[in-house]
Amino acid sequence: MARPRVLSGIQPTSDSFHLGNYLGAVRQWVPLQETHDAFYMVVDLHAITVTPTAAELRARTRVAAAQLFACGLDPERSSVFVQSHVREHAELAWMLICMTGMGEAGRMTQFKDKSAKYGEGSASVGLFTYPILQAADILLYQTDQVPVGADQKQHIELTRDLAQRFNTRYGAKTFTLPNPYIVKEVEKITDLQDPTAKMSKSSSSPQGILDVLEEPGTLRKKVMRAVTDTGSEIVADDENKPGVTNLLRILSALTGTTIADLEARYVGAGYGTFKKDVAEAVIETFAPIRERAEKLLANEAELDRMLAVGAAKARAVAQETMEKARDAMGFLPTH
Ligand code: AMP
Ligand code: TRP
Repeated sequence: MARPRVLSGIQPTSDSFHLGNYLGAVRQWVPLQETHDAFYMVVDLHAITVTPTAAELRARTRVAAAQLFACGLDPERSSVFVQSHVREHAELAWMLICMTGMGEAGRMTQFKDKSAKYGEGSASVGLFTYPILQAADILLYQTDQVPVGADQKQHIELTRDLAQRFNTRYGAKTFTLPNPYIVKEVEKITDLQDPTAKMSKSSSSPQGILDVLEEPGTLRKKVMRAVTDTGSEIVADDENKPGVTNLLRILSALTGTTIADLEARYVGAGYGTFKKDVAEAVIETFAPIRERAEKLLANEAELDRMLAVGAAKARAVAQETMEKARDAMGFLPTH
């Protein structure tokens, strides 16, 4: 039997991934290569919704790709590519845009969050249609499962609605309906300075974020200064101890120790000892990734070649889906 298909994407909108991206998404992608037919992409078309300069987009796309390989994605075992290299993404997005209601798109909470900082009416139309481009990304590959953090759940629901609508209107078998693949324990890593908010490259302060490519010394400082809660017990309690709980989740995920075992281990220990262990676990995880990413970035030609291999594999699947979708919708054949 064919393996189920998995697909996910990450935006090249900063100079490094952060711990939330890593634990909530990319780390899940690595083992899925062994059990699934895997497609992972750097979503550069999504990144232009927030208007980077050309130099920023170029550099960040390569940095993102290098980090994916450095985290363990293997060009032999999965298709790792850059979204804009497969033109079909933009084409299918347009078809789906024409099938999405304004109200339906307006209900996307990420748009509301992200557009708030631009002021009334100033966010781009691209930011508004962003989730529909994501739906196109997913549907082009007949994706079964989408490994992401909790913040993407609503976009995957929209994707399912659009697939269902297309299939009902134009042809029952055009698109596979995808499911989210979300690991509960790490679905929302929070900001070290504001542990009730998501760790986020767009809204967290630098002190609240742990970047994968950051210096060990800086990582250590940030963890040691993380907001903890009143009292001195190291126990998981989302209501009353969101800061300690976030650090427990991080340490648990990084060391493979259950939260209950960690709670038992730190009975009577102070926050200082606990935070030191969290810092060391983060540094130990990130240091080899950083080293591999730097090596990959030192040879851009090779990195670009690896991405070209991924794009060729992705294109073959995307083109097949597009032929079906064009024909189903009533576009004339090109030959
Ligand atoms: P983005 O950087 O917005 O492209 O996000 C890439 C992936 O990281 C998506 O699957 C997000 O859901 C996930 N992600 C982003 N921030 C967090 C977080 N704080 N906790 C868990 N997952 C996250
Ligand atoms: N919107 C996603 C995010 O911000 C990135 C993304 C784009 C994506 N296309 C995708 C994720 C397709 C999963 C599948 O994180």
